[in-house]
Amino acid sequence: MSNVKDVIVKLTDVEKEFDGVKVVKKLNLEVRKGEFLTLLGPSGCGKTTTLRMIAGFSNVTSGEIELEGRNVADLKPNERDVNTVFQSYALFPHMNVEDNIAFGLVEKKVPKAEIKERVAEMIKLVQLEGLEKRRPAQMSGGQKQRVAIARALINRPKVLLLDEPLGALDLKLRKQMQLELKHLQQKLGITFIYVTHDQEEALTMSDRIAVMNDGVMEQIGTPDEVYNRPKTKFVAGFVGESNILESYVTQVDEDLLHISLESGKALLHAPGFKNEEMIYICVRPENLLLSETKKEHFSIRGRIVEHVFAGSVIKTVVELINGQKLRVARHPNEEEFEVGTYVYVYWHPKKAIIVHTVEEQIYNVIEGTTNRIYEQLGEKYSPSAREDSHDQ
Ligand SMILES: Nc1ncnc2c1ncn2[C@@H]1O[C@H](COP(=O)(O)OP(=O)(O)O)[C@@H](O)[C@H]1O
Ligand SMILES: [Mg+2]
Repeated sequence: MSNVKDVIVKLTDVEKEFDGVKVVKKLNLEVRKGEFLTLLGPSGCGKTTTLRMIAGFSNVTSGEIELEGRNVADLKPNERDVNTVFQSYALFPHMNVEDNIAFGLVEKKVPKAEIKERVAEMIKLVQLEGLEKRRPAQMSGGQKQRVAIARALINRPKVLLLDEPLGALDLKLRKQMQLELKHLQQKLGITFIYVTHDQEEALTMSDRIAVMNDGVMEQIGTPDEVYNRPKTKFVAGFVGESNILESYVTQVDEDLLHISLESGKALLHAPGFKNEEMIYICVRPENLLLSETKKEHFSIRGRIVEHVFAGSVIKTVVELINGQKLRVARHPNEEEFEVGTYVYVYWHPKKAIIVHTVEEQIYNVIEGTTNRIYEQLGEKYSPSAREDSHDQ
């Protein structure tokens, strides 16, 4: 874990129940000072609920939330050094841009001259110069979003919570605002906790991503880690496109596993696995390769069923002999296979990732702990010695 001093928001075993249903489960999360952390997951997985508990709009059912090392259970939202930007903007329709932005400072009875100065500074920061006197109804979605952000930032919060702030914008503006927000965050050095269900947005903007599924945080890591080394089937499927294949190990050659699938044999690089283990593997569409001739160690066979043009890539759908469909991303200048052609599917052994279901991961954690305990006990209690004792 990171240095305690660097942690600004800490959640320990946080749970939330509505009418006896747990919607956030044993959430443990440490957000570092100055980091852009994203909670990513499908609708209903508990992102907003988590954000609301951090902001203080909603109580935790159990567990603890700390801001800068202080338990915030008894602090009201306005007593926490945290501000929230909502998707709906929540601007005051009867107030102009300046007054909307100044609102928090007026409430706090900050001197007028200071308010004026800080509002001007914010308007410059979010590039709304010239629009000071406009009301929300006279502005575009992107401009309103900037006002909402300025209104939150003017309070100089230590942490800014953003709940799908770009959700209402069209794609082009959303992409532009993603970069703007990211640059703003880097410039100000304020910690952002950002919520989105859009995996591409999360990958573009975040220092780290916490992937949530059904109230459980399944993985936390950098965009690179989450994309290239997903730990669960869910993460592999939700972040980026992926092909998940069920297989079992038929032979172990040091770090190379020979595996058998319903549709053929294949090879992958993964240390620490045993013969006859069942594994789920994930191969990204860009890492699947097609050939009319058989490659060594690979015999997965399928038929080309469709080519979909998607701008810079062609997405080819291959149906395996067991009916499973794989998505393969290919460059337009690669060899073309006609629909109906039979092909072999293969990959570079290092480009297939082993993923586990959550249940398996929990099992592995318990196993890992047991192994460590045995390691501490010494050589004769090592896992292999333990296996022997099973047989007796
Ligand atoms: N005030 C509430 N009362 C009852 N159920 C709620 C309430 N708020 C959220 N939920 C439920 O909690 C779950 C998580 O919701 P939410 O945190 O809003 O998800 P997300 O933001 O990831 O889409 C959903 O099943 C939702 O219906
Ligand atoms: Mg939500």
